[in-house]
Amino acid sequence: MSSVVVLGAQWGDEGKGKIVDYLAQKADAVVRYSGGSNAGHTVVVNNINYKLRLLPSGVLFNDKTNVLGNGVVINPGVVLAEIAGMKEKGIDCSNLVISDRAHVVLPYHQRLDELQEEALGNHKIGTTKGGIGPCYMDKVARVGIRICDLMEPETFADKLKVNLEAKNAIITKIYGAEPFDYDTVLKEYLAYAEELRPYVADTGVVMDELFSAGKNVLFEGAQATFLDIDHGTYPYVTSSNPTAGNACTGSGVGPRFIDHVVGVVKAYTTRVGEGPFITELLDTDGPGNQIRETGHEYGTVTGRPRRCGWLDAFMLRYSARLNSLDYLAITRLDILDQMPKIKMCVGYKIGDEVLKRIPASLNVLAKVEPIFEEFDGWMTDISGIRNYDELPENAKKYLAKISDVSGVELGIISVGPNREQTIVLKELL
Ligand code: IMP
Repeated sequence: MSSVVVLGAQWGDEGKGKIVDYLAQKADAVVRYSGGSNAGHTVVVNNINYKLRLLPSGVLFNDKTNVLGNGVVINPGVVLAEIAGMKEKGIDCSNLVISDRAHVVLPYHQRLDELQEEALGNHKIGTTKGGIGPCYMDKVARVGIRICDLMEPETFADKLKVNLEAKNAIITKIYGAEPFDYDTVLKEYLAYAEELRPYVADTGVVMDELFSAGKNVLFEGAQATFLDIDHGTYPYVTSSNPTAGNACTGSGVGPRFIDHVVGVVKAYTTRVGEGPFITELLDTDGPGNQIRETGHEYGTVTGRPRRCGWLDAFMLRYSARLNSLDYLAITRLDILDQMPKIKMCVGYKIGDEVLKRIPASLNVLAKVEPIFEEFDGWMTDISGIRNYDELPENAKKYLAKISDVSGVELGIISVGPNREQTIVLKELL
């Protein structure tokens, strides 16, 4: 038995989907433990693009158990549409299990997400407007509706009534927007309930059975370390804990079951939404734009152009500590193929003071300047390389520096979107 957590070490969109898909080949189960349909993973198999939002990447294989754990928030319409889309592509999702303890995203969560963002004006978070934050708010406020409630029509009807009265009051009285009609939401969700029923299980027990049977388990992180509600650049974060510790809490297993943690790192940095970004490139015709266009850095879920910048290796050191990272999986190295000069942030400073840690205060963070090191680019197409030794020397120097500053060994290097465009330095699982 072996288990590995794979998570984003930056601000998301690191290419976790591809790494998870690669490792899933050896896994018996793939488990999501946080977030919801705000995630967007793109996996390319046999030149077919699969865009996954809630479904674990293991659905692309027929023989894996796929778990949506209790820490995930489930939008039934989204997950059912994804299942239907997969079926159209010949992928059967019968090996999917959804936790009966997971919370349900309702239409009022989505509406409140939009209204709250509008009301915040210049201070908006830049959320995906999927109702993720408001759903987790209800969970923590202990008024949320769980999948097990949805499975009991009378319980659901009661809970929906209470919730909708409270939410409609906020929607109409505070925001002056249109209320939701109880019967319409009830009917829609009771129909979803019947479609979801075959997938619902006590997934903590499923996990226990998997571990007892000596299976290989892959925990698939969503969002990323610096979007973590506790450790990210608060308040410009998501409303759950994508960090490794939540792989346990969000799926119902104890910490002794985690063997390895892999941090997925894009060879540069991107961010969507608002918030601090120390190495951001704001040019419209320089390296920032070159990264965005070469890397097609536009959101999978929202289509928003992503903010692009140089790799922040100092952040990775922090990420390594927070997540107990054993290995790094570097993705999209090929996107830098035609950059004559490449910079990497190896430290932070304020004036002459070199910082030892990332400040919690956004006011202090706003004063931080990156300490850059400049590298000569390799100016050659590396997408066909499958062996580390064959990488250009300049690429190897760049990779070695990432490992050096972050303090984490390199495990996987990805040089293209396809499964086979992967250089493996460390076999996991
Ligand atoms: P929310 O998770 O929709 O509430 O959005 C909160 C913040 O997290 C926003 O800055 C989003 O852009 C960001 N975010 C949420 N999910 C992802 C993701 O999968 N990739 C990258 N950023 C994300």
